Amino acid sequence: MNKFKVGIIGATGMVGQRFITLLADHPWFDLVCLAASARSAGKTYGEAIGGKWVMDSPLPDSVAGMTILDADADIDRITSLVDFVFCAVNMSKDATKALEERYAKAECPVVSNNSANRHTPDVPMVVPELNWRHIEVIDSQRKRLGTKRGFIAVKSNCSLQSYVPALYLLHAEFGVKDVLVCTYQAISGAGKTFDTFPEIVDNVIPFIGGEEEKSEKEPLKIWGEISGGIIVPADKPNFTAQCLRVPVSNGHMAAVFARFEKRPTKEQILSAWDGFEGEAQKLGLPHAPKKFLHYFTEDDLPQTKLQRDLEGGMAISIGRLREDTQYDYKFVCLSHNTLRGAAGGAVELAELLAAKGYFDR
Ligand SMILES: NC(=O)c1ccc[n+]([C@@H]2O[C@H](COP(=O)([O-])OP(=O)(O)OC[C@H]3O[C@@H](n4cnc5c(N)ncnc54)[C@H](OP(=O)(O)O)[C@@H]3O)[C@@H](O)[C@H]2O)c1
Repeated sequence: MNKFKVGIIGATGMVGQRFITLLADHPWFDLVCLAASARSAGKTYGEAIGGKWVMDSPLPDSVAGMTILDADADIDRITSLVDFVFCAVNMSKDATKALEERYAKAECPVVSNNSANRHTPDVPMVVPELNWRHIEVIDSQRKRLGTKRGFIAVKSNCSLQSYVPALYLLHAEFGVKDVLVCTYQAISGAGKTFDTFPEIVDNVIPFIGGEEEKSEKEPLKIWGEISGGIIVPADKPNFTAQCLRVPVSNGHMAAVFARFEKRPTKEQILSAWDGFEGEAQKLGLPHAPKKFLHYFTEDDLPQTKLQRDLEGGMAISIGRLREDTQYDYKFVCLSHNTLRGAAGGAVELAELLAAKGYFDR
């Protein structure tokens, strides 16, 4: 198979750096173009990134010498070089939405990490293991945009990727009625390291702007159904969330309490998790974990530091399933926020779109 040529818009950011590491040796995608703001444009990636490279693996030499293009001013050049782009930019919602739509209208598919288009009704927001069929709404989106190839597809917010996978199959089988979730979120989710966020050391900050709303609302789009050319969000389960920033570099943990329409046994829950195989696993997508949900029986697992990198940071770790005095069950979930929750999730979504022919010319 010929590799698809790909660009990264927002290549100098925290998520952009992750994209670079994930695309360096990708079997299906060839990284040919990097773009960022006018501040970085014209510099080589090595010059622009300076001491800001925060990945564990070294910056690949092939990338360090690439010249950064201006995501806005060089759009014609960029779209002529690539088959599709990943987008992860720190801009206002309106500006991000306008930028993504310009790429799509230039017949360049956009796989986005940004939140700007997550609630656009004909933009699929996909976790490839869960609601992969939502990509079918792209046909309607293309009609709205007047494009043949161009479209926007997004991944969901990082926090919910820890707990929604654990609830997804249970909802289908037993009807999840109410969910209370408290998240303990890493500082890389704010694009920070301990060097750039010293006030988090020995501290917990009980506020992450907009996060609780996203954690309550976005799951309903994932459970939504395509009807009349848009995704109509589900009206259940009911979510209530509290999101805390904790002194952890990577990995979002969630403490979950769930009430069911038809209360399952503990064995039924464990068996549903154990047997979970999504479309991503069936298709053998390069970044799909072999096993999506891993349950740990030890009382003190999963731990952020020990399990966040499970299966390349793409698997979900679950533990501490037990009955609750007010809800039916409680348990703990963990996922890597910049791998599964951000760049890795977007790369896996792009693999799904490639496998289903959405990047074909
Ligand atoms: N960090 C996470 O874990 C995470 C998880 C999920 C989603 N996200 C989302 O992903 C996006 C990027 O997050 P991040 O943490 O990577 O942010 P970041 O580290 O602040 O990086 C922002 C990137 O956007 C570029 N940019 C800023 N203004 C621009 C403009 N006017 N035109 C073009 N490019 C511009 C920057 O380029 P310059 O270097 O040239 O300024 C940089 O490449 C955000 O929407 C964020 O909400 C982040």
